[in-house]
Amino acid sequence: MVSFLSSSLRLFLVLLSIFTFSCKDNKSVEEETESTNNDFIMYQPSEMANFMNALYAYNQGIKEQITNGEVPTHMPLDLMTLHSAEMTKGKDRSQAWQNVVDVYIESQKQVADSLSSEDLKLRYNAAINNCLACHKTECTGPIPRIRKLLIQ
Ligand code: HEC
Repeated sequence: MVSFLSSSLRLFLVLLSIFTFSCKDNKSVEEETESTNNDFIMYQPSEMANFMNALYAYNQGIKEQITNGEVPTHMPLDLMTLHSAEMTKGKDRSQAWQNVVDVYIESQKQVADSLSSEDLKLRYNAAINNCLACHKTECTGPIPRIRKLLIQ
């Protein structure tokens, strides 16, 4: 009984971590849980995954500011981390990554550029669309969450 409980708990934790954070879509999550059923692997987010979550939280705050009519002027995160952070095993900076990363960085900087004359909402949505452009090939799991960052 005790061991049944603890293995269900472990399975639950695996599912929770996969559904919450990882790049995988639901189909590969099912395959994964089958193979890791008895063989629990501790979920260790990579440096890049942590940075991505910080980017997410930052943009959530920016969205709120913009919808409240405020003008964001502060970008506390070092976007160059995208070039240096270690990624989850098996992931790398592919050609598709390289094609988008600097375009994204530039667009994200422009969101907090108080001297820009371009419409703030357009600048913000452009940055989020660049998140999505990279995720389309590099990491599809979080796409529905990232879409929620767009300002309609
Ligand atoms: C140049 C490509 C690229 C851009 C731009 C990009 N991402 Fe990512 N993102 C990735 C990759 C690759 C991973 C997987 C990283 C890893 O597992 O090491 C990832 C992972 C994530 C994750 C999952 C983190 C986790 O806990 O596993 C979230 C959420 C995320 N990104 C959100 C965003 C948001 C929001 C933006 C824009 C503000 C963004 N990403 C911009 C490629 C990108």
